[in-house]
Amino acid sequence: MKLSTKGVWAGEERTFFENATQVPVVHSVAFGYKTLQEWMDVTLGEKEGYIYSRNSNPTVNVFEKKMAAMEGTETSVSFSTGMAAISNTLFALVRPGDRIVTQKDTYGGTSKIFLKYLPEYGVKVTMCETGDHESMEKEIAKGCRLVYLETPTNPTLKIIDLQRLSSAAKESGAIVVTDNTFSTPINTNPAEFGVDLVIHSATKFLCGHADALGGVVCGPSGLIKTINSFREINGAALHPMAAYLIVRGIKTLHLRVREQNRSALKIAGYLKTNPNIKEVLYPGLPGHKDHEIAKKQMRGFGGILSFTVTGGETRIKKVLDNLRLAKLAANLGAVETIAGIPATTSHVECSIEERKQLGIPEGLIRYSVGIEDPEDLIADLEQALSQ
Ligand SMILES: Cc1ncc(COP(=O)(O)O)c(C=O)c1O
Repeated sequence: MKLSTKGVWAGEERTFFENATQVPVVHSVAFGYKTLQEWMDVTLGEKEGYIYSRNSNPTVNVFEKKMAAMEGTETSVSFSTGMAAISNTLFALVRPGDRIVTQKDTYGGTSKIFLKYLPEYGVKVTMCETGDHESMEKEIAKGCRLVYLETPTNPTLKIIDLQRLSSAAKESGAIVVTDNTFSTPINTNPAEFGVDLVIHSATKFLCGHADALGGVVCGPSGLIKTINSFREINGAALHPMAAYLIVRGIKTLHLRVREQNRSALKIAGYLKTNPNIKEVLYPGLPGHKDHEIAKKQMRGFGGILSFTVTGGETRIKKVLDNLRLAKLAANLGAVETIAGIPATTSHVECSIEERKQLGIPEGLIRYSVGIEDPEDLIADLEQALSQ
């Protein structure tokens, strides 16, 4: 099946309650049985069924099956948020004394785990210059438990060569994890390039309507089982209502992302010609420094772009305050266009010193393209940039 078909059908093969055609939202916390024997059989995994919604839930299960199908992995496990997916994966798989190799540019919450929380637990984290594949390969070859990647990066839109770093990790016996939130399974399936675990903030493109938080990790059943066991105890379970909203979102994911890919490319091209723009970061532009890698591993270049303007802070404020067709908000990947700067969006959790340490430019405007007509968005940018 193609991705569009999987988005609609995967995980929904069984007959639902009362033959409902849509996935029922099962709010029940627990699932009751008539006999102790039957209850025991389900508890021991000898019979299919559910026990308690912190561990598994029928609505949530549909989302997990759909995501495993979309990413082409054996299975997946869901979480209450994208950050829960990232932190549970890391804390389930590494131990004090282990070493992680990663890149400097990752989503701010993830960077905070690498800068503060993992080192506090005795885990050594080596953060390489993003895009310097050679130095990452060297660091990986020194030996590490886990290689953590994110591509395209938030908000700098750098592209990491998944195949190259996955094969370096395989030679070192390390687990490769990547955050695929920006690309979505429509544009990239990291497992095809050797990545073991594929993470999403389901809050973003998967949900698509900015009305549910969620996260997911897709991968082989052995690793997912370890992460799932940790989550059952840690308790960061996805709420069934959020799972339902995300499942509904995934059904139109391919349509939205296809449109967002097209519009973002058009808008990036327009911004390149505007005299008030200093730099446009979009991997779909032939001039982008990672364009060749992007072409190799992305079917489309995504709905997010970033840009810097001439005139410093005053113009940044003018542009953002005058945008009529963009919400100024700490989110991305929704049907509405959204804009903001790292200090209020991707790296809000980091201090100004941490952003400096990570090389995140303060004046970058991140622009998440919605599904509006790109001509309207261009006209809106034009008027805001000419203020
Ligand atoms: C690339 C990326 N990964 C992870 C997250 C965290 O997701 P959540 O907000 O669902 O916890 C975000 C949030 O913006 C993100 O942009």
